[in-house]
Amino acid sequence: MQRIVVLNPKGGSGKTTIAVNLASYFASRQQMPVLMDYDPQGSALRWVKKRQPIQPWVYAIAAFERDARTTRSFQLRVPDGTTHVIVDTPAALDAREMPEITRTADKILVPVLPSDIDIHACSRCIRDLLLVGKVRREDNRLGVIANRVRRNTLTFQTLIRFLHTLGIPIVATIRDSQNYVRSAELGLGVHEMKQYVAREDVEQWEPLIAWLDQPGPRPPGPGDVTAASAPTLAPAPGATSVRTPAAAPAPATAAASAPAVVGAAGEPAEEGGG
Ligand SMILES: Nc1ncnc2c1ncn2[C@@H]1O[C@H](COP(=O)(O)OP(=O)(O)OP(=O)(O)O)[C@@H](O)[C@H]1O
Ligand SMILES: [Mg+2]
Repeated sequence: MQRIVVLNPKGGSGKTTIAVNLASYFASRQQMPVLMDYDPQGSALRWVKKRQPIQPWVYAIAAFERDARTTRSFQLRVPDGTTHVIVDTPAALDAREMPEITRTADKILVPVLPSDIDIHACSRCIRDLLLVGKVRREDNRLGVIANRVRRNTLTFQTLIRFLHTLGIPIVATIRDSQNYVRSAELGLGVHEMKQYVAREDVEQWEPLIAWLDQPGPRPPGPGDVTAASAPTLAPAPGATSVRTPAAAPAPATAAASAPAVVGAAGEPAEEGGG
């Protein structure tokens, strides 16, 4: 089981978009992904609720909810056979929360928009991950996704130079595309769209998938939850694919009443440049 954390305290950088598209990718490849939503906005959860029964199953856990009646590990247990746990994190995540969220992560993805403000926030985020989160560069766990990029702009070049100086790889470059907006409205990802519509977007995920397949050299530390020791839960046949921490099935009407647009409007993408 691989645990992938998508993190950047900067709002609107594309965390949920990356998280749900990863879930969509793995689900469409006959894998069994779990989306773990740490964001009280519940955007990833809403996305799962929009999925139709004919679509490959994505299990979701409302990790942002705290239930005093059960233990935390019981709340966060994943179904038997889970292949990937994808963790969506909230904006404004406090650096002090980073160690807990990243400690057991096999891969940490930081999406960043190519704007001065976002590059600045990204540098703070990476500094916190390295210093507070104790993520070691050499573990090959940390990768940046340049999101909503328009190539060959000045700001994009700045982003590349900046990451190069930090020694952090850009593991994917994702273009600004309405396919992300349209697919999310239907509880889908670009990998589940018609090929002639989303071919260019799908191709941009290939380097990211290849990087996720690369092993990290990190030996398991004390207290790490390994695949073997992770708490599991066998999903009941016909059970809802969304589970709240209290294990109560989410009301079926929640999806219908959820707003159609996932997340807030993002930071403006790259405008200028040459
Ligand atoms: N590559 C992209 N192309 C077009 N739109 C995008 C892309 N990535 C994200 N968006 C849009 O940008 C907005 C913000 O994205 P998203 O909600 O994924 O960011 P976030 O980091 O999860 O935000 P928050 O910090 O509020 O949780 C959404 O409307 C989303 O559809
Ligand atoms: Mg989000």
